[in-house]
Amino acid sequence: MDKLMKIGRNDPCWCGSSIKYKKCHASFDSRLEIYRNKGAVVPSRKLIKTPEQIQGIRESAKINIAVLDYVSEHIHEGITTEMIDQWVYEQTTRCHAIPAPLNYEGFPKSVCTSVNDQVCHGIPSPDVVLRDGDIVNVDVSTIYNGYFSDSSRMFCIGNVSPEKQRLVDVTKESLSVGLEQVKPWGFLGDMGQAIHDFALQNGYSVVRQIGGHGVGLEFHEDPWVSYVSKKGTEMVMAPGMVFTIEPMINMGTDEIFTDEDDGWTVYTADGKPSAQWEIQVLVTEDGYEILSY
Ligand code: MF3
Ligand code: CO
Repeated sequence: MDKLMKIGRNDPCWCGSSIKYKKCHASFDSRLEIYRNKGAVVPSRKLIKTPEQIQGIRESAKINIAVLDYVSEHIHEGITTEMIDQWVYEQTTRCHAIPAPLNYEGFPKSVCTSVNDQVCHGIPSPDVVLRDGDIVNVDVSTIYNGYFSDSSRMFCIGNVSPEKQRLVDVTKESLSVGLEQVKPWGFLGDMGQAIHDFALQNGYSVVRQIGGHGVGLEFHEDPWVSYVSKKGTEMVMAPGMVFTIEPMINMGTDEIFTDEDDGWTVYTADGKPSAQWEIQVLVTEDGYEILSY
């Protein structure tokens, strides 16, 4: 927290609302202070989005959703993941937005496409053809007017085995289970544990090393969001925080490895399938708002 910045109770609030501090974030700050004094991890002011920033992120998220809708309508057996990359590039730029993955830390494409035992960060390629029975995650991240949005969906190609279908469905359901725990003054660990417990009950494992993240003013902001965390731990959720819920759930082991040749693609160690859905949520005064899905 910005400790050095002393604000008088009659000064304009730090959030940019131009309302007096005492009528705006004063009680919010004292509430966070209580958590901090108890040793909890609390969000810095940068993680609390102003109404204007939230509106900017919403606009970005609308494009993000539209791009994923386009993929949903056009994806089918026989196309290459390169085609998905082209669609995402075209549809994003058509909306005057930028695909966030392109050139991000050297990532060469506009979208991540992860098939079957690929856990995440798969690179679209003309050599990867979607076949009957494949499950594929398409992860779209969008920059519009400087604001970031991020979400991903699973697609089942043709006739998918009941085992794979259940993995995809349970993973999607895990988002609702996690969302139930998203409320102000709860802990991110409440959400993480709920997802982990649910995956385990269904006979699956949850990837530990890769998680979600704060998002909005940057692609990846604090906090890092785990889906194997424990109730009552991790960062306190406060109104105005925006982060992703994007668990990667594996049919077999939670062990993973990264492709040494491309430096990006993450695989399950046992070659069994992995699924992921991602939504972007805002913590509100009384719960949450889903910004992108
Ligand atoms: N979209 C991914 C996420 O959910 C990040 C991908 S980084 C990239 O955080 F460079 F691979 F695109
Ligand atoms: Co993400």
